[in-house]
Amino acid sequence: MTMKRLVDEDLTSRMIAFRRELHSFPELSLEEEQTSKKIASQLDELNIPYRTNVGGYGIVADLRSEVEGPTIALRADMDALPIEEETNLPYASTRKGIMHACGHDAHTAILLGAAELLQREKLNGHVRFIFQGAEELNLGAKAMIEAGVLDEVEEIYGLHNLPTLSAGKLATCTGSMMGSVDRIDIRIEGKGAHGAIPNEGVDPILCASAIVMALQSIVSRELSPFDPAVITIGSIKAGDANNVIPQYATLSGTVRTFNPLIQRTMQTRIERILKNTADSYRCSAKLTYTEQVPVLVNDEQSAFVVNEAIDNVIGSEHRIEAAPTLAGEDFSLYLEKIPGCFFWLGSGPMQRAHEAYGLHHPRFTLDESCLPIGAVVLAQIVKQRLGT
Ligand code: NI
Repeated sequence: MTMKRLVDEDLTSRMIAFRRELHSFPELSLEEEQTSKKIASQLDELNIPYRTNVGGYGIVADLRSEVEGPTIALRADMDALPIEEETNLPYASTRKGIMHACGHDAHTAILLGAAELLQREKLNGHVRFIFQGAEELNLGAKAMIEAGVLDEVEEIYGLHNLPTLSAGKLATCTGSMMGSVDRIDIRIEGKGAHGAIPNEGVDPILCASAIVMALQSIVSRELSPFDPAVITIGSIKAGDANNVIPQYATLSGTVRTFNPLIQRTMQTRIERILKNTADSYRCSAKLTYTEQVPVLVNDEQSAFVVNEAIDNVIGSEHRIEAAPTLAGEDFSLYLEKIPGCFFWLGSGPMQRAHEAYGLHHPRFTLDESCLPIGAVVLAQIVKQRLGT
């Protein structure tokens, strides 16, 4: 497949240049001020009106048609990660410890490309382009929705690049595609004592260890093997000295599920194990359970639209069924409000893509031939929905 066939060379090279510009100057979640300004100036050139500072540094641009019709939204995220880049690319990050390691630079360039393609069309309805920040903190979509970006929008579509899928391939599915993300913070209180005289204290570290082990029984013994879920304790903190039993231990972790009904049961299950395990070790434990993003569920009709768009412009031989993942994506918050579909855009090497460095890796790279593909598929989705 050639890029030229999809999008003219001029637009392709401008998309690549813009993506590289963002890549060189990445900005962390909630700090995307310059990125936002760069997007605004691109929209100025396209003569598409927009609002800035929506839900943080977000931008909402509206391509209005003279013909009345539904509004279809397309969304891209634009924040980078606190990762030190190790790619040695000529346009690698110039900011120490910050990197576009999830390809949100590409998503932004792709959405601007789609805007340019759609501006050339006569549409029977309107298109809203949502440039969202703070995806990596699961805060951006929530803030954008609260700012009203979905008002009057009928459907929403978005994509994420995937380096373990070859560029030129795309994947989506109906129903659940990505997991829910909840955060747990646990504080265990014992009683400090000399490390040599445990009987005078209550050991919160022993209790914390037992809780870490017991929590794993939820997934392995309480849930059906056909209901995927993960509980990961990613941080344990307690004590400062080798010979002291501390007063406190804290744990934090992430809880993932693939079914909204299961997600709703997790807090109660964790609380029960926490309380009873802490009791048996004479400690007290407090759980803070924070729901961050729901399961990402694609609407059936919208997924059909995406499939058709891919087949029409790229070819059905390049479309595969998306493999489920418990990684989360705050696009799911939009899908809780209105129908829509999220899909994977292959961004990996043509050969052995499964061995490519994954998202969030310091050596993550992206095959830029996916940029025009992403733009043309997003544009085609809108064209199909707005009848041209
Ligand atoms: Ni991402």
